[in-house]
Amino acid sequence: MHLREDDAGAHPAVTPIYQASAFEADSPYFYSRKNNPNVAELEKVLKILEGARHAIAVTCGMSAIYMTLELLRSGDTLIVNPFIYGCSYRLLQRISQRRGFKLVDLDFSEESNIEKIPAETKMVFFETPTNPFLKTISIEKISQHVKKKNPNAVIVVDNTWATPLFQHPLELGADVSLHSGTKYFSGHSDVMNGVLLTNREDLAEEFQETRFYGGLILSPENAWLTRRSLQTLEIRLKQQQNTCAEMRDFLIQQSQVEKVYYPEIDGHQLKGYAGILFFELKGSYQKFMQALKIFKTGTAMACVTSMVAQPWSGSHASMTAEEKKQINLGENLVRLSFGLENPDDLKNDLLDAFRVL
Ligand SMILES: Cc1ncc(COP(=O)(O)O)c(C=O)c1O
Repeated sequence: MHLREDDAGAHPAVTPIYQASAFEADSPYFYSRKNNPNVAELEKVLKILEGARHAIAVTCGMSAIYMTLELLRSGDTLIVNPFIYGCSYRLLQRISQRRGFKLVDLDFSEESNIEKIPAETKMVFFETPTNPFLKTISIEKISQHVKKKNPNAVIVVDNTWATPLFQHPLELGADVSLHSGTKYFSGHSDVMNGVLLTNREDLAEEFQETRFYGGLILSPENAWLTRRSLQTLEIRLKQQQNTCAEMRDFLIQQSQVEKVYYPEIDGHQLKGYAGILFFELKGSYQKFMQALKIFKTGTAMACVTSMVAQPWSGSHASMTAEEKKQINLGENLVRLSFGLENPDDLKNDLLDAFRVL
């Protein structure tokens, strides 16, 4: 019962998983709902990657988004660009109705709309590049406009699709950059995690407390797996970047493809782009999807396996048909996420599927 084999100079080549809920009084840690060595190591890596002063690792991307909404009070105004992941949009609606803060949709990927963001805005939430259609939104212009009127407003950017390799929202005036690390950080569709990154002490303190009292911290196992996957983040993203650009050029030439969506890489805000694009298909999505052999179906993306999905019935299923219509999201929009397979194999798979249409 009392035997304890401490580390005793074992010096493992990688940090072990600290499968401990509590730590002794002389430990810098306390209780795994507050902090844990695996979570702390992951946060250190994420801070370096994104150039942030604080990183708060949580159970998944949705918890990270939920925690930003904890900052809002009854009567506050939240402005959202509706071109975001469908579940994020639904969460914003649910919480705004329950808490009594005002939620306003505004498509500020149209730059002229930035001026319309009202003076009393407490928070702005968006993804850039947008989901779907991969339009870019100027983080700098939004921040300058909003902060001029309200320096304490919180600009939140979901940086999941851009990744820290290609976009640093905090350097451009965002207050919070958040990620569903379930996507590129994990890269293998085998672990869920999320992170909030900020340079603001007040926000970091709030997030730490919400995580502690709300019980939203990442588990040591998932922190360990995510940290391990980050070892290959850059190499995966670079290959996915090359494949995605090659597939964009290939898709543009196909007669069954109406239009391809790929972001504008301006080199200032967005310095590159990895592995997900959209296209409008001429023909039945069901037939097309069923004919594919290498591309797998399902909700996974940004992973080592190439995936096909229909945003209408998948990522944006929690939006009503009317809401989807308002953002021009139709049933023929297809999302492809490219993994690490040989691009020639992927092209042949797509050509076979186009033939059945
Ligand atoms: C851009 C974006 N943000 C947030 C989320 C939610 O993340 P999670 O599934 O890790 O909760 C997703 C999930 O697909 C996403 O695509």
